[in-house]
Amino acid sequence: MQDFLNDEEVEKLIIRINKDLKDILSEKRYNHSIGVMKKAEELAKIHDENINKAKLVGLAHDIGKELSENEMIQYTKENNIEVDEIEKINIGLLHAKIGADICSKKYGFSIDMQNAIKYHTVGNLNMDLLSKIIFVADKIEDGRNYKDEDKSKDLKLAREIAITNIDEALLFEIDCSIKYTIQKGKLIHPDSILIRNKLLINKNK
Ligand SMILES: [Fe+2]
Ligand SMILES: [Fe+2]
Repeated sequence: MQDFLNDEEVEKLIIRINKDLKDILSEKRYNHSIGVMKKAEELAKIHDENINKAKLVGLAHDIGKELSENEMIQYTKENNIEVDEIEKINIGLLHAKIGADICSKKYGFSIDMQNAIKYHTVGNLNMDLLSKIIFVADKIEDGRNYKDEDKSKDLKLAREIAITNIDEALLFEIDCSIKYTIQKGKLIHPDSILIRNKLLINKNK
């Protein structure tokens, strides 16, 4: 996008994406998308990021999430999207790359907006402020709640940290995600380790 889009044009685009999501997503995922949009807006205001971009990306970040695994594989083939070793096994992760591609082609999202969608599942070494905001907003939006006591505690803490320090909040969320991935015996994406190390090194500088 389209840094030149004015507020009125952004509102029009939001209405369009909103309508598309209602058609594509389950009610639960649609509500989550609205939750991430609101949380991303809130965090963008606090941490001084472009509010329109945060809202649009927050809303659209899971646009590819409810494609079937076969549809995801098909989409990557038809649109020349590279699939890495981990994504070949954990196909669901591809909804991030696919979502970014859809939003680029359908709504004209800029590279930084596409990257924020691309990086929202496992993180990436090159995350900028917008990407960090979306990653964190996805995990802490107001609609999220957990029965599990540990997860519930983590969520509460993450919501507090996100207000004061987005890097700390991202590090915390990456740690949680790695922890739960290990508990489930699943593969950890190397990009999560890379961004975690970068955040830790920067923190201790
Ligand atoms: Fe997602
Ligand atoms: Fe999400």
